[in-house]
Amino acid sequence: MKKRKHSLRKKKPEQAAVNEQRMKNLREMKRVEAVLASASYKMYMDKIAELESERRFCRHDRSHCWETARTAAVLFLLGEVPCPELSDYSEEQVCELIYAAAFLHDIGRFREYEDAAKDHAVEGAMLARPLLEEAGFAEAETDLILSAIAHHRRKDNAGFDLLLSRADKESRPCYDCYALADCKKYRDGGKPKITV
Ligand SMILES: [Fe+2]
Repeated sequence: MKKRKHSLRKKKPEQAAVNEQRMKNLREMKRVEAVLASASYKMYMDKIAELESERRFCRHDRSHCWETARTAAVLFLLGEVPCPELSDYSEEQVCELIYAAAFLHDIGRFREYEDAAKDHAVEGAMLARPLLEEAGFAEAETDLILSAIAHHRRKDNAGFDLLLSRADKESRPCYDCYALADCKKYRDGGKPKITV
């Protein structure tokens, strides 16, 4: 009888070393850490948390940013959303772009609470620019991140903008939400699905 190949079989030592270095590179996100450590970022997120402390529906808090980042990374690594504008960047750089965009995409939310005529996506892009520049993102990288933030509520996105807007929605745990019956997303009778 033929032996079944097992995907979890022991890797060759040299392959294991390559994988280990790759994972180390992916985990190092110094520029994203600089964004998260900035006083302005903390102030924006604290303001949002305070303004949403009684909110029944989806919040725009730090957990949501983490979930959006990880969902976007999974969608990208699975090739679910083609992003030709990222093809010149290394895998590590792409992960930094994804995480920076995800962590910053809702920072303008407090401005929308202060003035309902404002769009938090557009406001967020304006607030994010100095944070990205101070963290050391190059101009072209900053432009990609700001575009994704500014467009994350649109339905006609493509590429990196679509990656963020899909992750923003698909990271929400709607399936288990206690406020589902009153949620505008499901007013037409649609049902939430478990997605990546
Ligand atoms: Fe969001």
